[in-house]
Amino acid sequence: MNAPQPLVRWPDPGTSRIPYWAYTDPSLYQQELERLFYGPHWNYIGLAIEIPKTGDYQLRWVGERQVIMVRDRVAPRDRDTDHGIRVVENRCAHRGVRFCQPPMDGHTGNARSFVCPYHQWTYKLNGDLAGLPFKDGVKAAGPEGECVHGGMPTDFDLSKNGLTKLRVAVLHGLVFASFSEEAEPLEDYLGSEVMPWLDRIFAGRELRLLGTNRQRIPGNWKLMMENIKDPYHPGLLHTWFVTFGLWRADQKSRMVMDRHGRHAVMLSRRNDGGANKAVTEGVTSFKADMKLGDPRLLDVVPEPWWTIDDPSNPGTPITPTVTMITLFPGLIVQQQVNSLSTRHIVPRGPGEFDFVWTHFGFADDTEEMTTRRLRQANLFGPAGFVSADDGEVIEFSQDGFRQWGEGGATLVELGGKDDDVGKPPTEHMVTETLIRSMYAYWRRAMGV
Ligand code: FES
Ligand code: FE2
Repeated sequence: MNAPQPLVRWPDPGTSRIPYWAYTDPSLYQQELERLFYGPHWNYIGLAIEIPKTGDYQLRWVGERQVIMVRDRVAPRDRDTDHGIRVVENRCAHRGVRFCQPPMDGHTGNARSFVCPYHQWTYKLNGDLAGLPFKDGVKAAGPEGECVHGGMPTDFDLSKNGLTKLRVAVLHGLVFASFSEEAEPLEDYLGSEVMPWLDRIFAGRELRLLGTNRQRIPGNWKLMMENIKDPYHPGLLHTWFVTFGLWRADQKSRMVMDRHGRHAVMLSRRNDGGANKAVTEGVTSFKADMKLGDPRLLDVVPEPWWTIDDPSNPGTPITPTVTMITLFPGLIVQQQVNSLSTRHIVPRGPGEFDFVWTHFGFADDTEEMTTRRLRQANLFGPAGFVSADDGEVIEFSQDGFRQWGEGGATLVELGGKDDDVGKPPTEHMVTETLIRSMYAYWRRAMGV
């Protein structure tokens, strides 16, 4: 990556204060699109199982650019080396039209090729330009016999006028893409600290798609990343977590970050909930006598894959019940007991983002387990018993930043003022270390 020119001056050398303008400045946001989403990073696109058959496609986003994730034809001899998944920009090479429209039912589309409606330029599934009308002009009878009118210049080269092709990398069925030639290989990008936690959920497993929901949240996109790097709030904001012991300060937890500070894993082990003076006294979201009308919502059944050899203490097993993985810039992978989902953050200007949830299980799940995962998914999504709270506080955060304007800053000092990048994981949750570390990376990548 070329060293970016400084954009603006940060008021303090560290990241224990985040200026409000980092969430509200429109020109800074444009730079984020260029340097982060279109720069040398890997962006989550979707799950390979969302396009099971040749020609299946889904419209997705990298920053504010719409892309097509499509399954291309692959010759039998190449099937071991080519996953067949292509990601191309949904923008015609002729006059820039966003030519591919969402399938009418909103589900997966299927195409033999892509044809732009405007002048019918036709593209192969891999984005190559296959042909265009009147490339060689039109033959007509003239005064001196037959002649050719118009057409493309003789040096027009089909192979140089295809769609923009993104680099694609598929890890355990998760599809990522990058506009940049400079992004390092995906596994290096994700890093050895985070990989064991992705392997734990995905390695060697076939996924089963359970459903999606989406919402638009009126806050800056980074606030959602921060929310899932913030272990302080869940046991305070969320009645469900503190009351039923899904996430609270008296649990055994760990905060892992990659060597750059940009990705993270918050992991923790559920306890029995109920009152514990140290963490519930005075906490207004703790409702001692709250009972579930339908206890099946928390019918938690431990699964063998939850236990792995502890990457920090090899030879010792570790069994978290929740792992919240944030992959910069826009993906969250979540396991909360039996519920699993990806959450994709799609920026929509400095003050808004789309949040797309994809709930999944495994192909070999029993029907009973599938129903259980779906029931527990009620905690998440736009109206989730837990996640609705997060959407709302993110909106309130953006409102607060906007009303003050220049000169204000958030305070991120829980657990110290350092960004802790390069240090061993923190073995508790009373810390904002992962937020500080993300901004240490963000400042470097943005030149702020
Ligand atoms: Fe797409 Fe002309 S703009 S074919
Ligand atoms: Fe939350």
